[in-house]
Amino acid sequence: MAENRYGDDLDRAEGGFGADIASQRMDALDRAALHHALSLDGGHALDLGAGSSIQAVRFATLGLETLAVDALPRARTLVGRLDLERALPIRYLEKDARALTRGDLPARLDLVYSQRFIHHLRHGEAVALLRLVAEAMPPGARLFLSASGLASELAEGYPAGPIEARYATLSPAMQAKHHIEGPVCLYAAEELEALAEAAGFATERVELSPFGNVKGIFTRIGPPTR
Ligand SMILES: C[S@@+](CC[C@H](N)C(=O)[O-])C[C@H]1O[C@@H](n2cnc3c(N)ncnc32)[C@H](O)[C@@H]1O
Repeated sequence: MAENRYGDDLDRAEGGFGADIASQRMDALDRAALHHALSLDGGHALDLGAGSSIQAVRFATLGLETLAVDALPRARTLVGRLDLERALPIRYLEKDARALTRGDLPARLDLVYSQRFIHHLRHGEAVALLRLVAEAMPPGARLFLSASGLASELAEGYPAGPIEARYATLSPAMQAKHHIEGPVCLYAAEELEALAEAAGFATERVELSPFGNVKGIFTRIGPPTR
């Protein structure tokens, strides 16, 4: 069994997109998003690249109408396996997030969360997706976003060029260890900030995890600025 420094089982992965970590461990960004969810008086949440959808289930149990989006077949998620749409205010949408439209989303989104997913998209696709999501978010709504980091071991042997063109597979050793097969766009902390700001968010906090991934909390401020 391959493990990272947190003891996560990296083999709990399918589809070549890396391990489903959220179902193994709640990290600081998960907890911050849940604190924020508790401070809201209901509302709508979105989990992008939800994987097993455990964090989406947590939002739904806190009373938020929650949409979980992932390319994984519904039957492989908690929502599908436990038929949770019958028990909780949650919906699972099996879809390539790059093909999402405004019509797929609730009219208003009060909280958007996305962990360990956005680096699977090209940078331009990530900007377009966050802009689409931002259209549904009123000023003040929060985005909790993380990406695999350029400062992590994933970047060993990874050809990091300019972010607009950065989209390459990991070294064979890292592909095998982390079960990440396709191309990824790894992020530096300031690049995740710039990504969110390009979609109309202000940065509240961005930090590196001990592994070297980038985790940020952002607030919707208005139309994209650049
Ligand atoms: C490493 S898992 C993260 C799952 C969960 N958010 C977590 O933190 O554990 C990455 C997820 O991104 C999803 N994914 C990758 N590319 C996608 C795309 N273009 N559209 C939708 N989902 C995608 C994969 O199916 C996978 O569930």
